[in-house]
Formats: sequence, structure tokens, C-alpha cells
Amino acid sequence: MNKTHILVVEDDPGLQKQFKWSLEDYEVHVAGDRAGALELLQRVRPPVVTLDLGLPPDPANASEGLQTLSDVLRLAPATKVIVITGNDDREVAVRAVGQGAFDFNEKPLDPDMLRLIVARALRMHELESENRRLMDVGREPLAGIIAASPQMLEVCRRIERIAPTQATVMLLGESGTGKELLARATHELSPRKDKRFVAINCAAIPENLLESELFGYERGAFTGAVKQTKGRIEHADGGTLFLDEMGDLPLSLQAKLLRFLQERTIERVGGREEIPVDVRIVCATHKNLKALIAEQQFREDLYYRISEVSVQIPPLRERPGDSILIARVILNKQREIQKSSVRDFSPGALTAIDLHEWPGNVRELENRVKRAVIMAESPTIEPYDLELETPATIGFKTLREIRESAEAHAIQHALAVTGGQIGKVADMLGVSRPTVYHLIKKYDINA
Ligand SMILES: Nc1ncnc2c1ncn2[C@@H]1O[C@H](COP(=O)(O)OP(=O)(O)OP(=O)(O)O)[C@@H](O)[C@H]1O
Ligand SMILES: [Mg+2]
Repeated sequence: MNKTHILVVEDDPGLQKQFKWSLEDYEVHVAGDRAGALELLQRVRPPVVTLDLGLPPDPANASEGLQTLSDVLRLAPATKVIVITGNDDREVAVRAVGQGAFDFNEKPLDPDMLRLIVARALRMHELESENRRLMDVGREPLAGIIAASPQMLEVCRRIERIAPTQATVMLLGESGTGKELLARATHELSPRKDKRFVAINCAAIPENLLESELFGYERGAFTGAVKQTKGRIEHADGGTLFLDEMGDLPLSLQAKLLRFLQERTIERVGGREEIPVDVRIVCATHKNLKALIAEQQFREDLYYRISEVSVQIPPLRERPGDSILIARVILNKQREIQKSSVRDFSPGALTAIDLHEWPGNVRELENRVKRAVIMAESPTIEPYDLELETPATIGFKTLREIRESAEAHAIQHALAVTGGQIGKVADMLGVSRPTVYHLIKKYDINA
């Protein structure tokens, strides 16, 4: 078996032997001075270094040792350095730790203590490199967007292609899927990136205020209009206007917005002047606009205007692997912010995250992980901390069980949709009628 490499920097031959003997479980490399230490550091890349501070040419003083410490950390910042000090220079030890040493051990060496400190340093090194690896996996195909699933990578590719154009973009997706994030990305990747990104949430502003909010108003346009005020559209001039929750725009304003999109000029409320405005429009909604059109709640002509390009953002449950990826990145961030000692998710928690349906999508995931970091009582987050069902109660274990459960679910769904017509169920699912009967029996479904 390959032993772990440890670098011992020590000029006293007697102590060198003692180190080798104390650390016999490791592959110990010995250097007697700074130059030798740095050479070995580059060559063997040891995760842990023990460093005697009194080194030649000035063994009575810590300066050469402290210099070695800072060189080591500069060349290989992940290295855990354990400083070895004479029994009367605690103060220097404290200084070394301040400079980034992991720990210190006083002479004379206590082999047990040394072994313990080395093991601890190694463990820390392992944890940290595991963490870095996970962060690397946390891929960001677009700034701020964590994704690895083909579904989401495709969305990001589309945004990259659309962003530099002038096209009006419609982002469609459930709540919390990242519509606003992608709207910002569209702006950032466009030639307008140095101008404003102005967002307005059409659902959050009462109908009677929305018009003046969007178009601005002239002094005296209504009670309280004490001075001429620009609207959000004008504010976005040269930049990008993000119309969020577009499906909630009242019909009266839909007509006005349509006029703006056609003419590219606005009139402030109470004004006569036609003001040209150059904005790139990005819209978003979680509503089904086609259904709203059918109910005459949304203008079809406006719909076509704003959907020059539309991008469907898949819900989190349809992005295999992404929930775990995003959860890990959020955990790392939150741990920093909250100065928490939480380290990782338990295997059960990871399974629970993977299996949860995430009706609130990434926003829900964010909230659950944030809360878990605050509430967790141990260094590993359990499903309980996330307020998720433990996988055991969800009951999936093998791939076969997962497949069977999906199969049963699909049959039930198809039966419901078709009102129990076996022929239609068979057509829907692309199987024969006998197969449908067989599955109904197998899964004991009430048909
Ligand atoms: N792929 C992702 N990677 C990292 N964070 C994400 C991702 N998608 C969304 N988020 C984060 O999740 C939260 C919700 O995203 P966002 O506000 O963009 O969603 P939305 O679709 O606009 O939601 P809503 O419909 O509720 O307004 C934000 O905090 C956002 O930063
Ligand atoms: Mg939003």
C-alpha cells in the first residue's frame, strides 16, 4: 500500500531519527534546511509538513523557520504545517500559527502527541481537498447558475446564443426555477451589459400604480404627482428591462405595453410628448399564457410580440443530479456566511434531496439548506434538518424499485387522464393492451 508522504524539516540528526521512528506509518522525507525543504515540497507534494523553526544558518533564532513557513504556504497553500518549537518559545509558536501554521508541538517530542497532531492535520487536509473537489464540480455554465444536467446546460446554451441579439425573450418556468437569474445572465452577456438592468414585478404592484411605475408621469398628472418622474422603462434606456410575472399584467396595461413595443416610444402619464426609448425586453412568467389567452386574460398580439424567442426552464425535479450539486454549493456558501461547523450532508440527506419533488424549485432548496445549516446539531446534515422525509420512509432502494414505482405511477396517471379507457392508456404509454392489463394486475391498481 502507498504510504502518505510527510515532510520533516529538522536539522538535528538525532531528532530526524526520532521523527522517522515516531511517524513510521508514513513515508517520511527529511530536509535539514530551507532550500532542501522547498525542493522536497515541490517534488513529493506532502499534505503535511513538520517544521523546526530553528534552522541553519541561524538555528538559535526562528527567522529562518518562519521564512520557510511562509515559502511553503506560498508554494503549496493547502499544505498543513506543524511547527516544532523549543520548549521556551511559545510566543514564536503563536506567531507561526498566526502566519498560517496548522498547529505546533513543543520539544522534546512526545511521539503520541506528534502522531495525533499529524493525523489531525491529514484529516483536515483531506476534508479541505474533498471540499475543493466538490466546489469544482459545482459548475457554472453561466454566471451564478449552477447546473450539470443536460436539460439545464441546453437552456444555458440557448441563453448564450440569444443574449447578444436584440430579440425579446420570454422565460417560462415554475416559481423558483431561476427566471430572474437567467434574465440577468441575458443582460450580462449582451452588448448592453454596462447599462442598467431594470426589473419590475408586474404582480407586486397594484394596477393603479403600475402604469405610472412603468411609464412615469408628468407633474400634476394626478393628485400627489408633485414633480415629473421617469418610469422604469425610461430608466432602462440603453439597457435591459425585465418584466417579471408578465402573466399578471392587467389587460389595460397590456394594450399600452404593446403600443410601446411596436412604436418604441412612451408617453408619461399626463404627458403629450412621445419619448423614444431603446430597451431590450426580457419577460418571465410562471403562468400558462396560452391558457390565459384562451380565457381572454392575455392579449394574443402581445403574446406574439414578447415571445420572439421563448425559453422553457425545466423544474428542478427534471434536472437529474442538479439538486445535489446546487445543495452542496449552497451549503458551502452558507457555512461561510453563518460561520457554521456543519461539514456535509449525510448519505441519507443526499438521497432525500435527490428524491424530493422540489415544488418550490431552487428557491425551496435554498431555504431548506439555509435552515438546515442553522438548525443542524451535528457536523452532518440529516434529512430531518432539511425537513425532508428520510429515504427509508420514501422507500426507494434499488433501480428496479424506482422503475416499478415510476411505472405504477404512469399507469395510474394515464388511467386518470383517460377516464380508465385501457385502449387509450395503451396508446398513451406506447404499449399493448395486454401489457396494460398485466401492469394493472402487477401493481394492484384499481382501474
Ligand atoms: N441554477 C441555479 N443555481 C444557483 N442558484 C439558483 C439557480 N437557479 C435559481 N437559483 C437561485 O434560486 C432563487 C430563485 O431564483 P429566481 O429568483 O431566479 O427564480 P424565479 O424563477 O424568478 O422565481 P419566482 O418565479 O419565484 O420569481 C434565487 O436565489 C436564485 O439565485
Ligand atoms: Mg422571479
